[in-house]
Amino acid sequence: MTRKNQLPGDAHWWRNAVVYQIYPRSFADANGDGIGDLNGIISRVDYLAALGIDAVWMSPFYPSALADGGYDVDDYMDVDPRIGTLEQFDTLVEKLHENGIRVFVDVVPNHSSDRHAWFQEALAAPKGSAARDRYIFRDGRGENGELPPSDLASHFGPEGWTRTADGQWYMHLFTKEQPDFNWDNPEVNQYFLDTLRFWSDRGVDGFRIDVAHALKKKLDRLPDRHSFALSVMKDDGSDPLFDRDEVHDVYRQWRAVFNEYDPPRVAVAEAWVHPNRRPPYASEDGLGQAFNFDLLASGWEVTQFKHVIADNLHSSAESGSSSTWVLSNHDVIRHATRLVIPGYGTSEDGFDIENQWYQNHRFDHGLDLDLGLRRAKAATLLMFALPGSSYIYQGEELGLHDVLDIPADQMQDPQWHRGEGKFKSRDGCRVPLPWEPTGSSFGFGPGGAHLPQPDWYAGVAVSVQEEDASSTLSLYRSALALRRKLYESDELEWVDLAPGLLAFRRSPKWISITNFTDEPIAITGEVLISSDEVVDGMLPGNSTAWLRSF
Ligand code: GLC
Ligand code: CA
Repeated sequence: MTRKNQLPGDAHWWRNAVVYQIYPRSFADANGDGIGDLNGIISRVDYLAALGIDAVWMSPFYPSALADGGYDVDDYMDVDPRIGTLEQFDTLVEKLHENGIRVFVDVVPNHSSDRHAWFQEALAAPKGSAARDRYIFRDGRGENGELPPSDLASHFGPEGWTRTADGQWYMHLFTKEQPDFNWDNPEVNQYFLDTLRFWSDRGVDGFRIDVAHALKKKLDRLPDRHSFALSVMKDDGSDPLFDRDEVHDVYRQWRAVFNEYDPPRVAVAEAWVHPNRRPPYASEDGLGQAFNFDLLASGWEVTQFKHVIADNLHSSAESGSSSTWVLSNHDVIRHATRLVIPGYGTSEDGFDIENQWYQNHRFDHGLDLDLGLRRAKAATLLMFALPGSSYIYQGEELGLHDVLDIPADQMQDPQWHRGEGKFKSRDGCRVPLPWEPTGSSFGFGPGGAHLPQPDWYAGVAVSVQEEDASSTLSLYRSALALRRKLYESDELEWVDLAPGLLAFRRSPKWISITNFTDEPIAITGEVLISSDEVVDGMLPGNSTAWLRSF
């Protein structure tokens, strides 16, 4: 079916797309209430077009109490009135499509919010009712059911079960405001098929699927669990909570819905699973693409980067998909800061070092942030040279650092508030963007900003960087324009150069070289673009250059 507001094009547009993630509440605020909104995004469509991206992915903009930044959804088929209306959503899609930019929306199928009509109905309904069966309700243990049904923690800290007024408990893998759906219930299944059609009919081109690996659970014996690290998760489909083979039955049905449209709708899975279990999520009869977060967990080290790239190219070839690459998103410390955090990338489970460092050092970070930015630009330019699609996060094109010193009483992230000092706050990468060097919220909007913006924003605002050919923003724009011209195929051939250099050829005319060391290294060839200036044939330490040939 071809629908109104449709961007025509071939069915494979997503394979090497550059997708820009918008965190709607922090992008641009049109009405001055301090919260980003759809009209704000509409007013910045020219900016997105000038950046040269292929698509935007919008994090949740649905009605929500914001217990988890909007990943607690009250209604999957509406827009939060603080953010806009469905009509404004249609206008936004239309404007983006006019500029050749596709649109992904975020689907959060593992849990709703506790304000969702179904959960409210479940609370009001008796034990054992059909309304309760849409979620995961159980009796407690102990003489009077006063103990939780199992010893389950949530991702953001204590208790994965919460007790209701009549004594039963419900399961939530995240905050208590995010009750998990029962995906064995056919109504739940149907509801998400309807949701996918609802947005597809409005012209949405793709979906980012939140916690895609958790939907199906095996709860005949309720699991005890305190860690959600990959190392404790089973990698053979036998884990009771995650990555069960049955989840792919769900995605096969979703695929059938995607294929009702022309071009078919697409999706990318957020699936924190063992790498050998990723291909089915990315398969052609599944969601089609899956995030690999391996670059998020890598330190600035040449062999780590090389392995991550080689392994992922191999794995995407196995699924028939293309690879995805991510250096920043709304859940991690921005890469311009992260890439100089001591010890980063040396832990098996990725994020514990970052969490610990954050707790101890955020007010007195002592980081070489200039070096961080140089590494970030080098890593980004490397990423843009890779086959597959790159997912970039709002503000990274400005080289933003994480805002580490947000006072605890102004933080919003439940991971921080529930985390008992074990987890970082994700607010530092969600601070509203600086568009202008002055003004009450650096041009974010005519009012304030819902998270405190730092003074250094003045120097990195969009309008300042637009005037500066050597800015991070100019680098992103030029690199993306060049990538469009140079990208011919998905082939990548490694080129062996000096130790500390990571080099590969993408086409006879395109070679990317990254210098992971701190010393300049001689290179030969015509420089097309570089993240730091190449002088007298020397590629500076911590930088990347694209060359025409040797
Ligand atoms: C995903 C989102 C994260 C959210 C969680 C629960 O990991 O990226 O922001 O907190 O799911 O929905
Ligand atoms: Ca607003």
